[in-house]
Formats: sequence, structure tokens, C-alpha cells
Amino acid sequence: MAIVVTGATGTIGRALIRELGGAALAVVRRPDQGADLGCAYVVGDLEQPESVPIEPGDRLFLNSSIWPGFVAAHRAVIDHAAARGAAQVVTVSVRGATPAGLLASGLHGQVDDHLRASGVPWSILAPVGFMQNLAGDVDEEGRIFGSYGRGPVGYIDARDIAAVAAALLTRPVGDDATYELTGPAAPTHDEIAAELTRALGRPVRYVDLPVEEGAAHFEKRGLPAPAARDLARLMAQIGDGRWASTTTTVADVVGRAPRSLREFLGQTESPTARR
Ligand SMILES: NC(=O)c1ccc[n+]([C@@H]2O[C@H](COP(=O)([O-])OP(=O)(O)OC[C@H]3O[C@@H](n4cnc5c(N)ncnc54)[C@H](OP(=O)(O)O)[C@@H]3O)[C@@H](O)[C@H]2O)c1
Repeated sequence: MAIVVTGATGTIGRALIRELGGAALAVVRRPDQGADLGCAYVVGDLEQPESVPIEPGDRLFLNSSIWPGFVAAHRAVIDHAAARGAAQVVTVSVRGATPAGLLASGLHGQVDDHLRASGVPWSILAPVGFMQNLAGDVDEEGRIFGSYGRGPVGYIDARDIAAVAAALLTRPVGDDATYELTGPAAPTHDEIAAELTRALGRPVRYVDLPVEEGAAHFEKRGLPAPAARDLARLMAQIGDGRWASTTTTVADVVGRAPRSLREFLGQTESPTARR
């Protein structure tokens, strides 16, 4: 039985393949992307569900970045997995996802509902923001902009999401469940800026913007106006506390604590990842 890994070239996907130690069957969009993965691979695209190779009893890790066709493609791949007799689908969503949510929350909410109703055994990983994003958010003048206010956020190292996925994909298939995944602590963005100052060796400060100003800022940075507004609104919702609590789920599933931000920043050669 194969463990089929989509999003294999991504931040979580690469870490998952390392966790699986070559036991994965990776799905990549171009043949040249498979060579350095260290596992078997096939060329496939989530927009062509039949190109995702699933045999009866296989287990599927379903993950990708977001694009306009995300919901339709993910739903179609879930239907394909159900029709082919997959033993399990493990997917990556976002904490608090709901079909009516803003941006990725809404898209994931729609896919999650479809998976829950698919008849395939499922595990939904629902992480908060990734530590991998933080250093890349610092601009050339050492500023991070956001509309989080003083709300704490329990950022997680994406490698800990991969560790949870690996455990769920290699154990006997368990009950259907949603796993809320966080790091070990929930710092404010001022505290995160202090950690980044320490790690990067240059001053970093968090600049908090009210939603309207945040929307204008993100629009100036190139986001279309509606997306810029939704991003600032989503940050304000997060700052209101929806990602403030931490969970013990990583430790419960993998048997060790998730990495702290300080560990993450200290261990990583370059504390940034592809976005
Ligand atoms: N970043 C955060 O803070 C955060 C927080 C919570 C949840 N999430 C969720 O995490 C997920 C992203 O995970 P990640 O950061 O590991 O991804 P990532 O590093 O952005 O990589 C995206 C992966 O998806 C693949 N992909 C994109 N479109 C595809 C398609 N049509 N068919 C097949 N593969 C496709 C990419 O392949 P190519 O190499 O060919 O492009 C790549 O392997 C998203 O669902 C996001 O909402 C993110």
C-alpha cells in the first residue's frame, strides 16, 4: 500500500517525505522536481484528479498552496480517492476553517466539509500560521506590518505538521478527527519581533495597523483591494484571540513537544521558506 504525497515539493511535503524515509510516493507537477526528493515519484496535477495515482488501500496526503481552482480541484481529488478505495486522506487545512471564513479559511472550510462527507476515513490537520513565514515578512527597514493588535498567536514549525502527518499516515488508520496544531507558546507580534531581532542580528519591530490602514498597506504591496481588505480583517480576527490558545496535539500524536520559535530560528540555516 502506498503513501501518496501531494504538495511534495512544498514546505510540509518535503518535511513529510523526510519523515517517511523514502516510503512515500510523491506527486510532482514536473519530472525535474522529483529527482532530489529521495523517494519514488510520479508526475501529476491536482487539477487532473486521475493523475493522482491511488490504488485500493492507499493512503493520501492531500496538500497544496491555494489558487482560484483550489476548492474544485481538492474536492475532485477527494472524490477520486473515495472512488479508488483509498484507506485514508490526511489533509492540511487551517485552524478555525469555516466555509463562510475569509480567504484560506473559507476555501479550506469548503474542502473540509466535502472530505468529512466523502465516506473516506479522514484526518484534517488544522494548524495556525507557520514559523517559516515570519522572517520573510520583515521588510528592508526591519518592520513587520499586521493588524493583529496585541493578540497572541501560537505559530507552529511546519516540520511539526509534517511529523503529525507522518504519524497518522503510518499508524493503523484511526478515527476521523480534526487536529488543531500549534507551537508550544503563543507570543504577541511584539514578542515575535524581539525573537527575530535576536535571531537575525538586526532590529525588527512590529508595526500594528488598524484594519483600514492594513488594507491600504497590503494593497500598496500588490494585493488586489478585496484580498488586501480581507487579509487585514483576518489578521484582526486572529488578533482577537482565535489563535491565542496552544494545544498539546503535536506532543499527543508524535510524543515530543513542538519546536519553539527560538529553537526554530536557531536551528534553521535560513529561517525563511518558500511562500
Ligand atoms: N503558511 C501558513 O502560515 C499556513 C497556515 C495554515 C495553513 N496553511 C495551509 O498550508 C497549505 C500549504 O502548505 P505548504 O506551505 O507546505 O505549501 P507550499 O510550500 O506553498 O507548497 C505548495 C505545494 O503545492 C503544490 N501545488 C500547487 N498547485 C498544485 C496543483 N495544481 N497540483 C499539484 N500540486 C500543486 C506545489 O507544487 P509546485 O512545486 O509544482 O508549485 C507545492 O508542492 C495551504 O493549504 C495553506 O492554506 C498555511
